[in-house]
Amino acid sequence: MTSPEPTRASRYPAGAAAFPHRHLLGIAGLAPHEILFLLDEAEQWVEHNRQPHKRHDLLSGLTIINAFFENSTRTLLSFEIAGKRLGADVVNMHAAQSSVKKGETLIDTALTLNAMRSDAIVIRHASSGAVRLIADKVDCPVLNAGDGQHEHPTQGLLDALTIRRSLRERGKNEEFNGLKVTICGDVLHSRVARSNIHCLTTLGAEVRVCAPPALMPEGIEQLKVTPFHDFDAALDGTDVVMMLRLQSERMQGSFIPSPREYRHLYGLTLDRLAKAAPDAVVMHPGPMNRGVEIDSNVADLAGRSLITTQVEMGVAMRMACLDVLTRRTRNVEGWQ
Ligand code: NCD
Repeated sequence: MTSPEPTRASRYPAGAAAFPHRHLLGIAGLAPHEILFLLDEAEQWVEHNRQPHKRHDLLSGLTIINAFFENSTRTLLSFEIAGKRLGADVVNMHAAQSSVKKGETLIDTALTLNAMRSDAIVIRHASSGAVRLIADKVDCPVLNAGDGQHEHPTQGLLDALTIRRSLRERGKNEEFNGLKVTICGDVLHSRVARSNIHCLTTLGAEVRVCAPPALMPEGIEQLKVTPFHDFDAALDGTDVVMMLRLQSERMQGSFIPSPREYRHLYGLTLDRLAKAAPDAVVMHPGPMNRGVEIDSNVADLAGRSLITTQVEMGVAMRMACLDVLTRRTRNVEGWQ
């Protein structure tokens, strides 16, 4: 007799105890069941978003401010679409047009946003820790859309959702336990790497990180990952290859000899991919530097590249986060 599927109720506590946090500032510190709860909540929105009629009224009447103090294309668009699909009124604030350019302090910006009585604020900022500073000053839930080199929690969650669904679709065990994931590239400057490391190790995956010495953070082993400088060795038998962009905007001075040499040592080519497990999947948070950290024929490899699926999962994941974090405001039963 096969054992029954674990029910959702047996995976995490009921009501607000399933996710008892006011904000989503990072993945570090979240319990495995809290991450799984958010992933499970997102599943319904994946299906919903594939229907022709996508508008829901769950957050109708609520105001969400997307305050982006740093450039973004996909994350801003993804949060905007997520809020609108749930029926909220969504307002985008770009730093270039805001008083930040006139020298307003972060605290004043926070107080101003708060006075507008928004029901959730999504913030991206170039400084690590800036999002928490704002979160401490406002009365509504804050979602971190990327702060400096620190964290990008919804990216970590959407990547975990992408991996889990790809395992399921290929008829594999969808547990993260024992899954081998290699994250390669500019680990030093990457908030995506940090959120993914926290997310995947918390869920039980075996995470390897690979970077040239200058782009490997000191003491990275403390995050329960295995560091590599040799990409071929890091790829050996891996199930998931996650590539990172070189974050030139965060580099002062020269961290790599040349893009050409970087590709030679750390670029994901078809030949290199062959070192990973036979059906290993490829991921990249975007934006990609094709021909530098990843070759086009790998990025576009049908059946193996999950890069566009990551974008799709991003909207569903952010809908789930906006729903869960506003349940207290909306007086949802069990969440008051
Ligand atoms: C990432 C970011 O901004 O941290 N992009 C994203 O959110 N999809 C990664 C990057 O910019 O390289």
